Amino acid sequence: MKFFVDTADVAEIKDLAASGLLDGVTTNPSLIMKSGRPMLEVIKEVCAIVPGPVSAETVSTDHKKMLEEGRKLAKIAKNVAVKVPLTPDGLKTCKVLVSEGTMVNVTLCFSAAQALLAAKAGATFVSPFVGRLDDIGQDGMYLIAEIMTIFRQYPEYKTQVLVASVRHGQHVLQAAKLGAHVSTMPPSVLRGLFKHVLTDNGLKAFLDDWAKTGQSIL
Ligand code: E4P
Repeated sequence: MKFFVDTADVAEIKDLAASGLLDGVTTNPSLIMKSGRPMLEVIKEVCAIVPGPVSAETVSTDHKKMLEEGRKLAKIAKNVAVKVPLTPDGLKTCKVLVSEGTMVNVTLCFSAAQALLAAKAGATFVSPFVGRLDDIGQDGMYLIAEIMTIFRQYPEYKTQVLVASVRHGQHVLQAAKLGAHVSTMPPSVLRGLFKHVLTDNGLKAFLDDWAKTGQSIL
């Protein structure tokens, strides 16, 4: 499974990229707003740090303007994945951008029918938002299971399922069990995956005992 980080905070991205475990980055207008920085500048910097796909979201709702925005974003770097919303105009834009060789991430997917449409439009990624479904009392992971089942029936669809709106490590694990291609998660969730109290306690005990031996390896 590929790990993307869901942030527009360049310092965080740099730090996580150094772990060697980061396969890509997703941003959205809210994350750009949170960064307080100009979007085009942020995307350019992130694309230079992470060689994998970096999602940059369009903000127009009509096809013509969305396409114009998508083409501008795609020019920033080869690894930009243009994000378009799961609307008729978004999917129309997706088809054109993909035909031009641009990666496209179809976002704001909340149903299996929508995911199927994104695959038919040739999307590189489709982003079902699991956390936001959980927030309204639905089962976000059930949607991932449905989409994976459908996509398996049609190997000709190359669209990767990018599990988004991830809130905790369990979302990541469940997505991995279902065979989802990518999980995008906030930096805190990615860091949390390393954590286990027995790892911390075990390491401390080993180091304490090692110190008592008075030895050194180097
Ligand atoms: C990523 O592509 C999505 O925009 C993001 O995961 C949404 O997450 P949220 O529901 O926490 O805002």
